[in-house]
Amino acid sequence: MSLAEHDIKDIKLAPYGHEKIEWAYRNMPVLRKIEEELIEEKPFSGMKIAISVHVEAKTACLARALARGGAKVAITGCNPLSTQDDVAAALAETDGINVYTIHGDSEADYIKHLKMTLEFGPDIVIDDGGDLAMLLHSDMKHLVPGIIGGCEETTTGVHRLEILKEQGQLLYPVIAVNDARCKHLFDNRFGTGQSVWTGIMATTNLVVAGKTVVVAGYGMCGRGVAMRAKGLGAKVIVTEIDPVKACEALMEGYSVMTMDEAAPLGDFFVTVTGCKDVIVKRHFEMMKDGAVCCNAGHFDCEVSVRELEDIATDITELRHNVKGYKLSNGNTVCIIAEGRLVNLASGDGHPVEIMDMSFALQAQSARYVAANRGKLPVDVIMTPDEIDNRVAEILLDTKGISIDVLTPEQEKYISSWDF
Ligand SMILES: NC(=O)c1ccc[n+]([C@@H]2O[C@H](COP(=O)([O-])OP(=O)(O)OC[C@H]3O[C@@H](n4cnc5c(N)ncnc54)[C@H](O)[C@@H]3O)[C@@H](O)[C@H]2O)c1
Repeated sequence: MSLAEHDIKDIKLAPYGHEKIEWAYRNMPVLRKIEEELIEEKPFSGMKIAISVHVEAKTACLARALARGGAKVAITGCNPLSTQDDVAAALAETDGINVYTIHGDSEADYIKHLKMTLEFGPDIVIDDGGDLAMLLHSDMKHLVPGIIGGCEETTTGVHRLEILKEQGQLLYPVIAVNDARCKHLFDNRFGTGQSVWTGIMATTNLVVAGKTVVVAGYGMCGRGVAMRAKGLGAKVIVTEIDPVKACEALMEGYSVMTMDEAAPLGDFFVTVTGCKDVIVKRHFEMMKDGAVCCNAGHFDCEVSVRELEDIATDITELRHNVKGYKLSNGNTVCIIAEGRLVNLASGDGHPVEIMDMSFALQAQSARYVAANRGKLPVDVIMTPDEIDNRVAEILLDTKGISIDVLTPEQEKYISSWDF
C-alpha cells in the first residue's frame, strides 16, 4: 500500500494558513536570504527530508525553503497540541511537501504520524525533541541505512542523543543545532522569555505585575522567563538543582528556594527544566487558591498533571485551555494547556524574528549534512562556527549594522602568549 500524501484536519483551512505563513515569511529575512541560495544551488535535489517540528507558520517557512532547495519534504508535529491545522492545510497545498499531523492527535495518532513521516524514506531528519530519532533507534531501525544525518532543534532532544551516544547506540550523525550560539542565546532565552508570557497572559487574561512568579530551572530558557516576569513587575522566585545556576539567579536579584518552600507563595508557576516531576502532589496541596501552573519544558512531565488528577475532587474547563482542579482543601489549582509547552500549546510559539535565526541555522545545517554525505562521524556534532557566524552576519546586514574587524596586529596579539 502506498503512503498517503497527507493526513490533516481539513484542506479548506488552507487560506488562513497561507496568510499566517506569508506574515512569518516577510519577517524572516535571514531565512529568506538562505532560501535564495537554496533555490539557486538546489543542494537537496533527489533527497527526502523528514521534519518533526511544531507545525506552525515559521516551521512552514523552513519546510518550504527546503522544498524550494530541491528536497521532497514530509512533515509532522512534535507535540499534539502545537499543530495549527490551517498551517498544515496550507503546507499540504505546497509543492513537494507531505503533511501528517492533526491538532489534538491522541498519543497513538501522534506516533502513527511520526511513523508515516519516516515511512516516506528520508535521507535527512530534522527533529525537535528527538522523537523521529528515538523511532529510528527502536521500532524503525530498518530505515537507518538510508539516513545521511540529522539535525536537532532543542535541549531535550540533544540530551537524549547524547545519552544514546554515551551508551554507544547512536546510529547516524546529528548536528546539535540547539547548541549553536545563534540558537540558544536567542531562541531559548528571548524566544521562550517572551512567548511564555504572551501565552500565559493571552490564555488567562490575568495581570502579572505584583504577583509572585515561580520559575523552575534557571537555564537558557529559565533566564528568559524570569527576566520577562521581572520586567512585567512580578516578584520572581527561582528553583534550581545546580548550585552555580542558583547563585547566578540570586545575583540577578531573584529569591532562590526549594519548590517545597515556593509552592505556598506562587501565583504563577512555570517549569522549564527538561526534567520530570518538578511540581507534584505535595506541592499542589500547598498552593494558594487559583494558583496557575504551566510548563515550558519540552515534555509534559514537569508538572505532574496525572497526580493532580488523582487528588482532584472536581475538574472543570474554566476557560479555553485552562483547567481547574478542585482539591479537598477547597482550593483550585489551574493548569494551562494540559501541562504541555505553554508558548506553543497555548500560543503561536516564539516570535517570528527569533525563529528566523533558529530556522536559518536548521536550513544551513541540513545543507551541511547533505554536502557531507558519508563524511560526518556518527556523533552529536556542534553546528560549525561558520554557519553560526553567517546567521549573525546576515542578521546584522539586514539591519544595516557593521561591526569592527580585527587588524592583523590584533589577531597576532590575541593568539600569542608571549606579548
Ligand atoms: N518552550 C520552548 O519554546 C522551548 C524552547 C527551547 C527549549 N525548550 C525546552 O526547555 C527545557 C529547558 O531548556 P534549556 O535550554 O533552558 O535547558 P538548560 O539545560 O539550559 O536549563 C535547564 C535548567 O533546569 C535545571 N533543572 C533540572 N532539573 C531541575 C529540577 N528538578 N528542579 C529545578 N531545576 C532543575 C538545570 O540545572 C538547568 O539549569 C528543555 O526541555 C528544552 O528542550 C523549550
